[in-house]
Amino acid sequence: MDRFVIRGGVPLQGVVRISGAKNAALPCLAASLLTDRPVILENLPAVRDIQTTCHLLEMLGAAVEQRQEAPASSAAGCRQIVVEARNIKSVEAPWEMVRTMRASTLVLGPLVARFGHARVSLPGGCAIGARPIDMHLKGLEKLGATISSEHGFVEARAKRLRGARISFERITVTGTEDLMMAATLAEGETILENAAREPEVEDLAQLLTQMGAKIAGAGTSSIRIQGVARLEGARHAVIPDRIEAGTYLAAAGITGGELRIENCRPDHLLAIIKKFREAGLQIDTPTPSSLHVKPNGVLQAADMTTEEYPGFATDLQAQYMVLVTQASGTSRIKETIFENRFMHAPELSRMGADIRIEGNCAIVRGKTSLTGAGVTASDLRASASLVLAGLVAEGETVIERVYHIDRGYERIEEKLRSVGARIERTAS
Ligand code: EPZ
Repeated sequence: MDRFVIRGGVPLQGVVRISGAKNAALPCLAASLLTDRPVILENLPAVRDIQTTCHLLEMLGAAVEQRQEAPASSAAGCRQIVVEARNIKSVEAPWEMVRTMRASTLVLGPLVARFGHARVSLPGGCAIGARPIDMHLKGLEKLGATISSEHGFVEARAKRLRGARISFERITVTGTEDLMMAATLAEGETILENAAREPEVEDLAQLLTQMGAKIAGAGTSSIRIQGVARLEGARHAVIPDRIEAGTYLAAAGITGGELRIENCRPDHLLAIIKKFREAGLQIDTPTPSSLHVKPNGVLQAADMTTEEYPGFATDLQAQYMVLVTQASGTSRIKETIFENRFMHAPELSRMGADIRIEGNCAIVRGKTSLTGAGVTASDLRASASLVLAGLVAEGETVIERVYHIDRGYERIEEKLRSVGARIERTAS
């Protein structure tokens, strides 16, 4: 398994280009199951979760063609994938697939909508919490599916889904995506209330609409879908990754460097930009697709609470935590989305951070100087925070199990090295 070796202390300087959003690409790839025509997706990041999803689609019988780098001049980013779900011969997402990537449950809605049957291994828990899919299943039942579960699998069957009004008892991103996809082929109208408003939901709705779906309100908390008989193919470039962009904002902030972040969407990062400015960063938006960040005096402590979009993203909580270890004062971080998303705190404490966990709050006292150490990655975003800590820590930091990072960050060590970081990937 690969590891990163980082020698800290270099203020980052230069330009970083953001890749396509993993969390937009995954539902868009699942949406290709809704039609037998080719779906062409562009600006996809070269990350492990995309490969896992392509493997799952092939296991179901879809033809998946990965085209090399698009012409550098193309605005469509660096990777293109064509999926043709013409000869689907299985409707089962096996355990070993779902175990490695919970987002495999996104095939549930498309499979039962198009084929009347889906069999998906229950995801079980993961490093950041139990993460059940009860709301996905309740929604499919509302649409007329019969749900059964045994031997660790959940099975959904339906002659044809019928539109319904579904009100989520709490906001769920992939739950909204799964049911929005299912509703596109249901008979009649479906209304999703208390729906997730994430940009990735809106991006998926754009693809579905290009495929012929009739959707209104995506990106708001109430989405209306009029079912249609069939969907066509489409070509779609996914949005830039707002979490990757936020991670590089934190990287600049923690090293006291200056970065220009290109090919991003500042309008998807308003709460993040506001909070990072409060913590003492100077952030400008020179164009609608770029950010410019540099120091603005010393970093200041600032409390933060994670919320569903458009609030401060839980996927940037770990990165914010490591940033405020370098701020003078005490910052209180409240995690409201997942029940166990402070796995990075003990590792950061081993590097010298002063962090106390009280229930779903982390109390961070800064400024503490961090020293390099051997640390272990646990989940995707916690691992990113360990990289950020290594960038500022005195001495050498070795991060084991970087496959967690490779799931969601494209070539992170190359991008960081290109702006001055001393980081190497070694095979262990
Ligand atoms: C999506 O996960 C993202 N993944 C996550 O990003 C992100 O952290 C999360 O949304 C929150 O923004 C993808 O988009 C592929 P939820 P998702 O359903 O949809 C509970 C990353 O790092 N819940 O919005 O699985 C759940 O346990 C990943 O890229 C139920 O109880 O998250 C959680 O506490 C990590 N029952 C809360 O709701 C359900 O049926 C929000 O979960 C569904 C969810």
